[in-house]
Amino acid sequence: SAPEPATLVIFGVSGDLARRKLLPAIFGLFQDGLLSSAVQILGVGRQEMLAGEFQSFVEQALRESSETDEIDEASLGAFLETLAYCAGDLAGPEVYGQIAALCSEHETSNALFYLSLPPSLFITVSDGLAAQGLHRQDEGWRRLVIEKPFGRDLESARDLQARLTRHWDESQIYRIDHYLGKETVQNLLAIRFGNAIFEPLWNRNLIDHVQITASEDLGLEGRAGYYEEAGAVRDMLQNHLLQLLALTAMEPPAPGSPDALRDEKAKVLQATRRITPETVDEVAVRGQYAAGTLYGERLAAYKDENGVDPDSRTATYVAVRLEVDNWRWQGVPFFLRTGKRLPKKVTEIAVVFKRPPLSIFPNVERNVLAFRIQPDEGVSLKISSKMPGQEMDLREVVMDFRYDAFGAPLESPYSRLLLDALTGDASLFPRAEEVMESWRIVQGLIDTWEGQGRPQLYTSGTWGPDDADRLMGEGRRWRRL
Ligand code: BG6
Repeated sequence: SAPEPATLVIFGVSGDLARRKLLPAIFGLFQDGLLSSAVQILGVGRQEMLAGEFQSFVEQALRESSETDEIDEASLGAFLETLAYCAGDLAGPEVYGQIAALCSEHETSNALFYLSLPPSLFITVSDGLAAQGLHRQDEGWRRLVIEKPFGRDLESARDLQARLTRHWDESQIYRIDHYLGKETVQNLLAIRFGNAIFEPLWNRNLIDHVQITASEDLGLEGRAGYYEEAGAVRDMLQNHLLQLLALTAMEPPAPGSPDALRDEKAKVLQATRRITPETVDEVAVRGQYAAGTLYGERLAAYKDENGVDPDSRTATYVAVRLEVDNWRWQGVPFFLRTGKRLPKKVTEIAVVFKRPPLSIFPNVERNVLAFRIQPDEGVSLKISSKMPGQEMDLREVVMDFRYDAFGAPLESPYSRLLLDALTGDASLFPRAEEVMESWRIVQGLIDTWEGQGRPQLYTSGTWGPDDADRLMGEGRRWRRL
């Protein structure tokens, strides 16, 4: 649908996320003509800045970010004209009064409030806005976009939800999980439900197991304060990885219903067996990176990173084996792993099929359908094929589709999600119950690990602790990526 006029209010506009991702994404939409010409962008931050200073700040952020599309100077000039800035203490009422005044001067009362802020401020800000009546939708829509983490466990997530919904309706709350905005995550749905040949295979009869990997070569990137609290379970597993699991395992959503996708994801998360203190040792492995070498560079151990407690028990790697208790998936394990300072950045969902029931050839391997989320985005199918020659020798070959075949650059997930939020399409934003179900799955893990033991150390630049292999059991192994 056509972009509507709106005020886009960005809290935490001088923060890292806003500078590196949000502002480039908003500018990209503006430059492509996807925002209404009557959009007003209002940055909110602590630091006092004059309008001109804010414009220079945004211009610099856009020029520096690797996420910015090629800049058309005329568009940039016009974009900078749409900017307004407001400084203040988010704890006090004044700043919300100023925001209300600036919003009311604009020609529309539609407003999107993007909270690019630490979670400790979500309630302060949502209450502050509501105290000015900025949650009311009498004359136009009002929406709240919230970055993860949504709570730090099941209880705090429930509490946060209860407090947010004192003023805001669930339909106004957009919880962003940027993985859902990735082009190739969307493509998982396209491949699954846009082709007739996969769905009949998509179950326990033919699938042996599923592997979901999100490995990163990066370390902390100066985020010790956040990461020491979060660790890999809260940072990646509870949100991004469980969302990927849900999209892989869910039933086909009914067409035409905006909530169908979220309903199906919620159902499959509900069916996912929770990890309990009794099962943790059997189904989960945690690790923390030690010093090592990556790309020829010597890297420090996690515990020696700036701002990290030298005795820290924070996991920078986690691998789990999950089961989905429904008819489709009974007995099919889902292996999920994520870690920092692994050998490379790669996100992949691999559906690993069973071997043929009777093998008339030696060396028959399992077929694998792999969705490469990033980088080298694409989909590949591994099959066994005869090698040329007299013998019946089989070898694995790969049928490969690469996104670059389309020749078009991939859109930033933030652009897509911002546009969806502006047009009121919430299907790619996890609903409260999905978030709660995800916490429920990992709560036993969090409780057990925070209470006892330590992560195993793994050398930076390797694939994580050896114990992760043990999770797979006999006859299976993690894919070499
Ligand atoms: C973020 C995590 O949500 O996702 C980061 O907080 C992580 O720690 C990032 O690096 C990974 O996102 P992407 O899009 O680079 O795979």
